[in-house]
Formats: sequence, C-alpha cells, structure tokens
Amino acid sequence: MQSESALLGKVAVVTGGSRGIGFAIAGRLGRMGARVSICARDQAKLDQSASSLRGEGIETLAIPADVTRGEQISSLIGKTEKEFGPIDILVNNAGVGLFGPFHEFNESDWNRVMDTNLKSVFLMCRAVAPEMIRRQTGHIINISSLAGKNTFANGAIYCASKWGLMGLTGSMAEDLRKYGIRVSAICPGSVATEFSGQSVKDPSKTLQPEDVAHAVAALVTQAEGSFISEVHIRPTRKP
Ligand SMILES: NC(=O)c1ccc[n+]([C@@H]2O[C@H](COP(=O)([O-])OP(=O)(O)OC[C@H]3O[C@@H](n4cnc5c(N)ncnc54)[C@H](OP(=O)(O)O)[C@@H]3O)[C@@H](O)[C@H]2O)c1
Repeated sequence: MQSESALLGKVAVVTGGSRGIGFAIAGRLGRMGARVSICARDQAKLDQSASSLRGEGIETLAIPADVTRGEQISSLIGKTEKEFGPIDILVNNAGVGLFGPFHEFNESDWNRVMDTNLKSVFLMCRAVAPEMIRRQTGHIINISSLAGKNTFANGAIYCASKWGLMGLTGSMAEDLRKYGIRVSAICPGSVATEFSGQSVKDPSKTLQPEDVAHAVAALVTQAEGSFISEVHIRPTRKP
C-alpha cells in the first residue's frame, strides 16, 4: 500500500495546497506518483510551494483560484484537465477558521466561513462529478474536522460549516457510489499549521499535517469494492 507508484497516471486536485495540510497532502499524493494541481489565492506562496513540489520530481500545476467563486473553479478544473487529463482525485481542503462568541460576528463573517468551508465543496464537486460519472471512477475527499462532530464555545460558525460539510459529504457519497465514485470525510483534531493564526501548544501532543496526508493516502489506495467513508484523527497523547 502507498508505494511510490500506487498513483502513477492519476491526476489529483488539492484545494488550499499552498501550505499546511493541503501542501502535505499534495506532496504525499505526488510522491505516490500522481500529478497534482494545487490552488490557493496567494499566487506568490502558491508558486513557491509548487517549486518545492517540482523539486521533489512531482509534476505540479499551480493555479491561483478562490474556491468561493464558481467561475474561478471552472477555470481551475478546465486548466487541470487540459494540462493533465481527467481528474481522479479531488481533495477539498481549503478552509478558514473564525473563533469567538457568535454574537460578536457579522453577516459577512458568516458568509466568508460558509462560502469557503461549505459552498466551495459543493461547487468543486459539481465541477468534477460529470466527468467522474462518465468514467465511473473517482475519489472525493473532504477535509472536515472534529468540529464537524462536536460543538464548543467560540466555534459556532466554524462548527456549523463543518457539520454542514459532513451532511453534504454523506449525501454526495450516496448520490455517487453507484457510479463507482467514493466520497469521504476526514475529521482531524487540532493540527500544527498556521490555520487562523492559532498558536500551537505542545507539538508532541498535536497532529501534524502529514498525519492527515497519511489518511488521504489510505483512502485512495483502498481496494475498489469498498470505501472508508469517515476518518477521525486524534493525537495519541491528549493535548
Ligand atoms: N489546522 C487545524 O487545526 C485543522 C484541524 C481540523 C481541520 N482543519 C481543516 O483543514 C483544512 C486546511 O487547514 P490548514 O490548517 O492547513 O490551514 P492553513 O494553513 O490556513 O491553509 C489553508 C489553505 O487554504 C487556502 N485557502 C483559504 N481560503 C481559500 C479560498 N477562498 N480559495 C482558495 N484557497 C483558499 C490557503 O491559501 P490562501 O490563503 O492563499 O488562499 C491555504 O493554502 C481546512 O479545511 C481546515 O478547516 C484544520
């Protein structure tokens, strides 16, 4: 499992692939042989990350795109298919966090989190599904969170977006399984990244981006007849 050639000839799109969890996933899929297309809004950071992947011998496309915008998603998918061919693996990873008492946020805060963490996944999946259905194959992996299973103070909008994502993922999985397309959610606990400017406490008690990439690698190498629909990841030692 997860050998260097397991994904040879496969094409993967990873949203938010310029840093953190998305970058680790892109690297992992690339080292397994996939060609990877990464997107993010900050072009300079995206280009820097793409160079680093190419430096490892990974065929990489870096396409600036805001996943909250339908027309930019169409362009991302179109350019990827033109350069690399049909998409086998879509990882919806791009996301933002916003933490604090719900009554201190406004409507545009709500829209920003929902559009990035939830609407974008609908738009991305809608963009790739027709070709996956035609080819009767594909993996869609949504990076959710344990905040999509639990609730906590100061997490209202973020939790709502990730609970919504869990519902979207489960229903899309049912819509698409008859076409041989597997849709899964990964729910990590706290991961050591720059997410929302959060400061990491004890790194030995926090997940690393590679832990999430490992789960993605496991999902995409699952034998065809079954799929792992939901993965929860926790640090071995409690924070
Ligand atoms: N870190 C954690 O503790 C943790 C735990 C559980 C789940 N997660 C989830 O894991 C995912 C990745 O988090 P992370 O920790 O790796 O965050 P991160 O380090 O902040 O990276 C987020 C990535 O998403 C991109 N992005 C954000 N908004 C975007 C947009 N509108 N369009 C395109 N790209 C966008 C960012 O690039 P630009 O800013 O340049 O666009 C960046 O590449 C998120 O969905 C998050 O909810 C994180």
